[in-house]
Amino acid sequence: MQAIVLVGGEGTRLRPLTYGTPKPMVPIMNVPFLARTLERLYEAGIRDVILPAGYMPQAIVDYFGDGSRLDMTITYVIEETPLGTAGALKNVEEHITGRFFVLNGDVLTSLDLQAMLRYHEEKGGLGTLHLIPVDDPSAFGCVVHDQTGLVSAFVEKPPRDQAPTNEINAGTYLLELEILKEIPAGRNVSIERETFPQVIAAGEKLYAYTTNDYWIDVGRPEQYLAAHRDILSGSMPLKLEPGLTGPGSDALKGHPGVVPPIHAAGDVVVDPTASIGPNVVLGKGCSLGARVVVRESVLWDRVSVGPGTHIEEAIVASGVTIGPEARIGKGSVIGHDVTIEPGQVLEAGSRVGPAPSTALPTT
Ligand code: GDD
Ligand code: MG
Repeated sequence: MQAIVLVGGEGTRLRPLTYGTPKPMVPIMNVPFLARTLERLYEAGIRDVILPAGYMPQAIVDYFGDGSRLDMTITYVIEETPLGTAGALKNVEEHITGRFFVLNGDVLTSLDLQAMLRYHEEKGGLGTLHLIPVDDPSAFGCVVHDQTGLVSAFVEKPPRDQAPTNEINAGTYLLELEILKEIPAGRNVSIERETFPQVIAAGEKLYAYTTNDYWIDVGRPEQYLAAHRDILSGSMPLKLEPGLTGPGSDALKGHPGVVPPIHAAGDVVVDPTASIGPNVVLGKGCSLGARVVVRESVLWDRVSVGPGTHIEEAIVASGVTIGPEARIGKGSVIGHDVTIEPGQVLEAGSRVGPAPSTALPTT
C-alpha cells in the first residue's frame, strides 16, 4: 500500500516561520512534523511513500533522503510550479501502483488508517474521505453525506452561514487508482474545488468516514500552539524521542521554576531563577537567562533569551536571539535568526522577519 503526502504548500499562514523552514519540516515537539506523519504511516504498515513537493524541497530531501533510515521508500516528485492538491497526484501517476492513501501534510491526528481501510473495503467506493465534526467549518471543506456515508456534496470553505454541515474534510483520503482519470494533466487542479465535486456530479461513489479522533491542522500559529498543548496534556497521543524528555521534563528535573507540563531538549541551559511553563517546548541548545519567564510558547533550536525577558504564547524559530528585558506579546511569531533588541516590546500578534528575500531557498 502506498501513501502520498502532499507537502508542496508554501505555508503562507505560518510566515515568517516558513520563510526559513517548509511547513512539513516545522517541528512538533522538537521533531519535523513530516517525521511524525511518516511514523504514523509506518505504524499502519505503509512503507512506500510519495512526496509531491515544490516549496523548499531540498530541506525535506536532506532530512529524509531515500527513506531507508526509517525503513521506508520515499519518492520525491518536485513541482516547478504548484499543481494544486489534485494536480500533484496526477503528476505522480507513474509511481502509483494501486489503491493509495493521500494525506494533507499539515494534519495531526490519531486516526487509525487500518480501520479506515477496512471501512473503504466494506463500502467499495471510488474513494473514502476522513471527516471530523468541527464548530466552525468555514475554514475547511464541508462534506455532505447520507446515513450510509455516501457523499452528495463537497463545498470548499463556504461562508459560515452557508455551510451545509459541520462535518469537514479532515485531509486523509483513500482513493482507487481510477480516480486519476478524472484529473486533467499539466495544470493546477484542486481536489477540493474541482475533482471531488466533479466525481460526485458524475455519479461516482465517494464515502465519508467520520470519526471523533484527535484532529488539528497545524498550518496556523494558534493551531500550532494548540497542537503542542494537546500533546503535552496527553489528549493527542504521541511517542516522544529517546534522549528528549517528556512532559514534566527530566532535563530540568528539580528546577524550581518549572510549571508542568513542559518538554525540553536534553541540552537546554536554564537559569535557576527562570520560570518555564506551563505548555512550553524548548528545542536543542536553547539558553534562558535569569528571571526569564516563558509561558505557553514553543522555542525551536538555539534560541537565546537574555535576563528578565518575558515570552508568552509565542513561536520563536531557530537561531533567534532575544536581548534582556524584552517583552514578547501574546500571539507573536518570530522568524529564523532574528535579533530582538534589549528592552524591545513586541505587541500582541507581532510577526517579525526575516525578510523573505534573504531566506527564500536558493535550490
Ligand atoms: N504538492 C503540492 N502542490 N502540495 C500542495 C499544493 C500544491 O500545489 N497546494 C497545497 N498543497 C499541500 C499543502 O502543503 C498541505 O499539506 C495540503 O496540500 C493542504 O493544503 P493547505 O493549504 O494546508 O489547505 P487548507 O488547510 O487550506 O485546506 C485543506 O485542508 C483542510 C483540512 O485541514 C483542504 O483539503 C480542506 O478541504 C480541508 O478541510
Ligand atoms: Mg492546511
